[in-house]
Amino acid sequence: MLSNKLKALACALSFTVAGLVHAADPVTIKFAHVVADNTPKGQGAVLFKKLAEERLPGKVKVEVYPNSSLFGDGKEMEALLLGDVHMLAPSLAKFEHYAKAIQIYDLPFLFDDLAAADRFQSGPQGKALLRAMEDKNITGLAYWHNGMKQLSANKPLREPKDARGLKFRVQASAVLDEQFKAVRANPRKMSFAEVYQGLQTGVVNGTEDTWSNYESQKVHEVQPYMTASDHGLIDYMVITNTRFWKGLPDDVRSELEAIMAEVTVEVNRQADELNQKARQTIAASGKTEIIELTPEQRAQWREAMKPVWKKFESEIGVELIEAAQAANRS
Ligand code: LMR
Repeated sequence: MLSNKLKALACALSFTVAGLVHAADPVTIKFAHVVADNTPKGQGAVLFKKLAEERLPGKVKVEVYPNSSLFGDGKEMEALLLGDVHMLAPSLAKFEHYAKAIQIYDLPFLFDDLAAADRFQSGPQGKALLRAMEDKNITGLAYWHNGMKQLSANKPLREPKDARGLKFRVQASAVLDEQFKAVRANPRKMSFAEVYQGLQTGVVNGTEDTWSNYESQKVHEVQPYMTASDHGLIDYMVITNTRFWKGLPDDVRSELEAIMAEVTVEVNRQADELNQKARQTIAASGKTEIIELTPEQRAQWREAMKPVWKKFESEIGVELIEAAQAANRS
């Protein structure tokens, strides 16, 4: 009788001890992304890991998986919802299935520069978009900048008519699809990991991306021409699984949020510099001619692509578009 009681007690104790050991295990946060470490997002993920592990020793471990090494485009959102990965930072072009309003960031020639995008993102409408997917169990923690997009192709692109009939790789975005159709080119959705090969083998003839993405993926080796068009934006939303985030101990979550705010300042401070350096590296490689547009040529691209706004106005919302435009004038 006594021995049975003792056994029960020992059993209960062992559960408690196991529970304590378990509670003391660090939370592992897997952070996956598709670009290289030496890009604005790559640097941000590395800094987040460093600060989280320094300031929450024994409580948090962050594993960073760059270059689509854990999950790439197409699979990563599903993996986040299944809990197989805990943080991602997809480009803002990759959320159309989760919140139509986020498509705003793909509208061509919406923001004059990164500073305007920043003003919009830190204003009330931009902040609200971070919460737009919570009903789908996705929480936006921050916006990180990459930079303005540039065109590249196997022929010089100076005027919209130069793009006619060419096949362009686009991110999985209906807006970007329409943007290339507007200049009578043929868009083709392709994941980021496939871009280099797609260009090399001629599956596509051109693309659009930032200088840092071009340089780190060696796109200049397979594209003889790039056009400094600044015609759109590649920025990111750092996201997490809402239930996972809310399930973290309060002290851990609030420290991670403070770290995220600090990392965001640093990423956004460095993003333009990284892109300008990447542009210089590309220019110095001698493999690509970088074409500057005259103001008249740039106006022609704007004119040709602008009708895309109307097509998405009802999905995005007129007021949101107006708020974004106002950020150019602030
Ligand atoms: C792309 O697919 O071109 C970009 O979204 C990649 C990235 O994450 O910068």
